[in-house]
Amino acid sequence: MASRGYQSVVGIDTSQHAVAMAKMRLKDERIRNVEILNIDATNMQRLEDGNFEVAIDSCCLHCIIELEERKNFFSSVFRVLKKNGSLLGRSMCQPYTEIRNPHYREHFRIDGKVVLRRLPESSDFVPCRIVRSMEEIKDELSAAGLELSWSVHELIIPGPGGCHHLTYHAKKP
Ligand SMILES: C[S@@+](CC[C@H](N)C(=O)[O-])C[C@H]1O[C@@H](n2cnc3c(N)ncnc32)[C@H](O)[C@@H]1O
Repeated sequence: MASRGYQSVVGIDTSQHAVAMAKMRLKDERIRNVEILNIDATNMQRLEDGNFEVAIDSCCLHCIIELEERKNFFSSVFRVLKKNGSLLGRSMCQPYTEIRNPHYREHFRIDGKVVLRRLPESSDFVPCRIVRSMEEIKDELSAAGLELSWSVHELIIPGPGGCHHLTYHAKKP
């Protein structure tokens, strides 16, 4: 976004590794007008109310598994957006019932709507993603007061049960 002319850009992630990678990339590409923060998208207290024209979620929402936390995510986005501000989002969505890539099958499982990841050097699996339906995601947006203007539902890993993504644009009225 910064290299495309946005004056002030803030990127957030809870992973220190992701934050470090983003900072390294900005340094390599000599991009200055970006701040990278190690904060949680479900509680963006460090960000001011009504300060952003655009919020972009690139595949973070499907990592937020608890419904209450997802509610906090959408209400935090609503809070930091200006009036008429936009949320552009991309998330896994249903139907996605099968790990189709044989390499990933050893490490991931799907149990209903939850994707589980195997812990390193263990046979235990822990939840890592949630795959909600398009209607459920639209309901979450609307419950937070965000108005959906368009959405595209696409199959990104082909075949029955393959991975679907929902890309959408919603506005804070
Ligand atoms: C599937 S990766 C997507 C990474 C990148 N945005 C992309 O599109 O390639 C999900 C990212 O969301 C981050 N994440 C998960 N839960 C988060 C939360 N509650 N707040 C902020 N970041 C979170 C993870 O650490 C991870 O870097």
